[in-house]
Amino acid sequence: MSDKLRIAVIIGSVREGRFGPVVARWFLEQIREHADLEVDAIDLAEVGLPMAFPAFGTKPTGETAAVADAVRERLAAADAFVVITPEYNHSYPASLKNLIDWHNVEWHAKPVAFVSYGGLSGGMRSVEHLRPVFAEVHATTIRDAVSLHNVWSLFDEDGAPTDPEGSNGAAKLMIERLKWWAEALQEARVKSPYTV
Ligand SMILES: Cc1cc2nc3c(=O)[nH]c(=O)nc-3n(C[C@H](O)[C@H](O)[C@H](O)COP(=O)(O)O)c2cc1C
Repeated sequence: MSDKLRIAVIIGSVREGRFGPVVARWFLEQIREHADLEVDAIDLAEVGLPMAFPAFGTKPTGETAAVADAVRERLAAADAFVVITPEYNHSYPASLKNLIDWHNVEWHAKPVAFVSYGGLSGGMRSVEHLRPVFAEVHATTIRDAVSLHNVWSLFDEDGAPTDPEGSNGAAKLMIERLKWWAEALQEARVKSPYTV
């Protein structure tokens, strides 16, 4: 296993015709410029996690088990997360809540940063709703976030940012903060395993 910090970038929107992949492609290019990070892109549209998660203390069976185990392993391997979220009706998508609720220890004592997008709000209400949910699963959320308002105007037809200075600058700051927390919490988890 490499000694790089492992960042799971979670793409939250799953609907047909979604804009999410444009945002994700741009952000993944930004974060992959950081040679000290190992990036795993988890697209929830591809993962296919069922909506019904099992009761506490029980394990999924059959085909569900294979899908769930594969996602679980990827989250467990991560030192930190970036959640790319749109905003629907003043909140974040059900696909993200499903992913969070399926898991627990995989989130513990790890930092979570956000790239949000939408219309007027730029997904900020999604992020504000996600923060207390992540707190409940013992994750810590990063103050500095990327927020893309009227997202359609921020990318050209090739998916390149129309205001690279603004968008790339926000991504850079967020990634630097995330790295700080990822390193600090990775050391802390090794020094003293996080138990609940
Ligand atoms: C059902 C629905 C509700 C939406 N509600 C909001 C909203 O409350 N605030 C906002 O800024 N944008 C809202 N939008 C705009 C979306 O954030 C925007 O379409 C975004 O591209 C959605 O992400 P996606 O294309 O990756 O699914 C909404 C879009 C849909 C389809």
